[in-house]
Amino acid sequence: MTDAPAPALCVVVPCYNEALNVAPMVAALDAALTGLAWEVVFVDDDSPDGTADTVRRIARTDPRVRCLRRIGRRGLSSAVIEGALSSSADFIAVIDGDLQHDETRLPAMLHKVEDGADIAIGSRHVGDGDAAGLASPLRERLSATGISLAQMLARAPINDPMSGFFLLRRTRFEALAHRLNGQGFKILLDLLLAAPQPLTIVEVPYQFRPRTAGESKLDILVLVQFAGLLIDKSLGGVLPLRFLAFALVGAFGMLVNLLVTSAARRLGLDFGTAQTIGTIIAMIANFELNNRLTYRTMRLRGGGYWRGLVLFMLVCGLGAIANIGIARALYHDNTAGLAASAAGAAIGVVWNYAVSATLVWRAR
Ligand code: GDD
Ligand code: MN
Repeated sequence: MTDAPAPALCVVVPCYNEALNVAPMVAALDAALTGLAWEVVFVDDDSPDGTADTVRRIARTDPRVRCLRRIGRRGLSSAVIEGALSSSADFIAVIDGDLQHDETRLPAMLHKVEDGADIAIGSRHVGDGDAAGLASPLRERLSATGISLAQMLARAPINDPMSGFFLLRRTRFEALAHRLNGQGFKILLDLLLAAPQPLTIVEVPYQFRPRTAGESKLDILVLVQFAGLLIDKSLGGVLPLRFLAFALVGAFGMLVNLLVTSAARRLGLDFGTAQTIGTIIAMIANFELNNRLTYRTMRLRGGGYWRGLVLFMLVCGLGAIANIGIARALYHDNTAGLAASAAGAAIGVVWNYAVSATLVWRAR
């Protein structure tokens, strides 16, 4: 036993390339949380800008500061989950590392949960909170669309289901942890949807600040992934999210194949050559999309990229042979043409998915 008790509040800060924001963040927490026993965990995904080093430098003189450095992985949600699970504090708060969220609201949020709320959410859309910090009209539109989609799914009336700023008891977090999807960036929505009974929510308004250092990581692909999370949740998780993404990319690839093949035909190439070119280009497009989207968190680069591409083309080539073979066999067996093609395509996509998940991207 030592006389230093476990902290009451653990602030989890996911960060990627936020080196310049670390020291201001610690200072801001220090000012906002006076009188509380708190700790902060910066969960850094091996940022090239040296975020982890910056955290460690501060941590050497301030035991309230911890660094969780993850290697070979990316993702806001999984970073938050691992940061929260690394703590023994009574309460967990999650806040962005770029000072856009208002840390001075944390004590108010803590009181709400101490007073019986299951979760306190910093909200940009109630009372005097606002979304002025969202840089562009496009971002605002995307955000609004996401909110209405999320509200349809969350079983609780909530103004800012996209918030990345919230506080709850650690025991509650741990109880939900097994049911979290962990992909993408919508950890709050993930938590709300994981709860077997709707959580009692209290929203605490705050003013979203503009970013002063570093840049936003929330790009269009992250939003596509978010759409995937919503689809996954509305299907009750029966189909793995990755499989859905893979199948969608595959459908897109068929379109590419058709377009390129017919363009090549129009240039006067014979059918076999045109079809071969179309297939190869579609495979490359599919590999690229799967690498950036379906397997975003384990994206292949450098030498691994080329090795992956060759493997992927071999796997899908075999998938295509299986597809055609099965469709032919069924067709000869008097199955209607369309049903035979559909069965062939279904088996082809399952094969491609299963084999490339273990061979090309080594998903666990
Ligand atoms: N560890 C880790 N890994 N951290 C990440 C990653 C990642 O892959 N991607 C982003 N982060 C960190 C950022 O460094 C930042 O501290 C925080 O997560 C939020 O990322 P931003 O890139 O700043 O997001 P934003 O400001 O565009 O998004 C805001 O609006 C969203 C809703 O529209 C934030 O308030 C989000 O929390 C909110 O969900
Ligand atoms: Mn931000």
